[in-house]
Amino acid sequence: MNIHSKNINLEELVAKDNAHHFHPFTDHKQFHADGGARIMTHAEGPWIWDGNGNKMFDAMAGLWCVNIGYGRKELAEAAYRQMQDLPYYNTFFQTSTVPATELADKISSLMPDRFNHIFFVNSGSEANDTVVRLIRQYWALKGQPDRQVFIARHRAYHGSTIASLSLGGMDSMHAQGGAMLPGVEHVIEPDWFQLGGDLTPEEFGLKAAQAVEDRILAVGADKVAAFIGEPIQGAGGVIIPPVTYWPEVQRICKKYGILLVADEVICGFGRTGNWWGFETMGIEPDVVPMAKGMSSGYLPIGAVAVSDKITEVVFDKGGEFYHGYTYSGHPASCAVALENIRIIEDEKLVEKAADMAPYLHEKMSELNDHPIVGEVRTKGFIGAVELVSDKKNRVRFDDLGRVGGICRNHCLAHNLIMRACWDTMVFSPPLCISRAEIDAFAGLTRAALDATYADVKNEVA
Ligand SMILES: Cc1ncc(COP(=O)(O)O)c(C=O)c1O
Repeated sequence: MNIHSKNINLEELVAKDNAHHFHPFTDHKQFHADGGARIMTHAEGPWIWDGNGNKMFDAMAGLWCVNIGYGRKELAEAAYRQMQDLPYYNTFFQTSTVPATELADKISSLMPDRFNHIFFVNSGSEANDTVVRLIRQYWALKGQPDRQVFIARHRAYHGSTIASLSLGGMDSMHAQGGAMLPGVEHVIEPDWFQLGGDLTPEEFGLKAAQAVEDRILAVGADKVAAFIGEPIQGAGGVIIPPVTYWPEVQRICKKYGILLVADEVICGFGRTGNWWGFETMGIEPDVVPMAKGMSSGYLPIGAVAVSDKITEVVFDKGGEFYHGYTYSGHPASCAVALENIRIIEDEKLVEKAADMAPYLHEKMSELNDHPIVGEVRTKGFIGAVELVSDKKNRVRFDDLGRVGGICRNHCLAHNLIMRACWDTMVFSPPLCISRAEIDAFAGLTRAALDATYADVKNEVA
């Protein structure tokens, strides 16, 4: 245990937090009424402790990011060493640092041959802002400046800055704060469970892909710059597309000469049982934003991997690319990311996750017998449990999100951290968990579902 967490004055901290901390993605009125923040103090593997001493199973790996699990001292030591040598220097104006250069080389080596250049950022949002700026510049240099439109999906999450939020398809986010970036077109998400109706998943996958082509034709193919998608939509409710979807989207993008962007912020670094979600989905993107699992969240860092097709144009014809962040390629973050990747490789965590994935699927699928579970789906180490009032007909409870909220609270009461995306309970545990920990996770989930059922029994068909 971290010595600093032993002597905290919890009451005082919560009061300070209520008084001064403006939290992201939080309804503050509700939050203060509920008593304020649960203050986390320390963690080990997939387990995290709060200030009251509760030991919780973190089935979300933080925010889909702590892929190697908590408590790896090697990462702290890597940051410590680097901060003593060189705590900061930038990568602008023809300079670099040892870890930034090594990390660019490393990430490039983990990707298909055509990805030879890595642009560093500090978050997934910044990665997607970079994607927009880079792709616009690419098309302008190619002499096709009218190719400005990005096609994205409803319920996509690409971040919270204006450009990444505009690419995202979250209605509630778009409803706040006025104008979005112009030129983003949203099409149907490949969510068979919710939208598939009487179609088979395969038929629905083709229908959802057809929506991409229809929109390209409606906008005019010569105006479309790129299609962007998460291989598996995370915050939208872990939408695992039917097998027919991605190959068809890929075919359509190729047909019209449109760039394909795979947002690997969640799916990258082993989450789906391969290094990259695009491998799992069998697609060949041109641009790959990434973050989260890159450092397992130990320090903030992200990147955009750019294929040769784009760098050949941008480097050759573009002159200076006026884009970058003070902390692009921050040396401590890069050192931590390198150590994180070393651990993933040396401990074969991607292979282990792939080997363990069927067991995670099997244990979680046992919940399919539960009266309020409409579907359990997993891919690698990411998955979802759909809550429904009528299992047979895939009917949701009234007031979407209400029962998900109840379930999330019961999870917390059972020392389980799961997130509710409306009425879809989602999970993405660290890749290092054991069979016994999967058993514990499935058991806690069932207990939370039972408690939820007890609350909503009278609404169930
Ligand atoms: C797929 C995806 N892209 C981008 C982001 C934004 O990343 P960040 O929160 O680091 O800005 C997220 C965050 O959850 C994400 O899930």
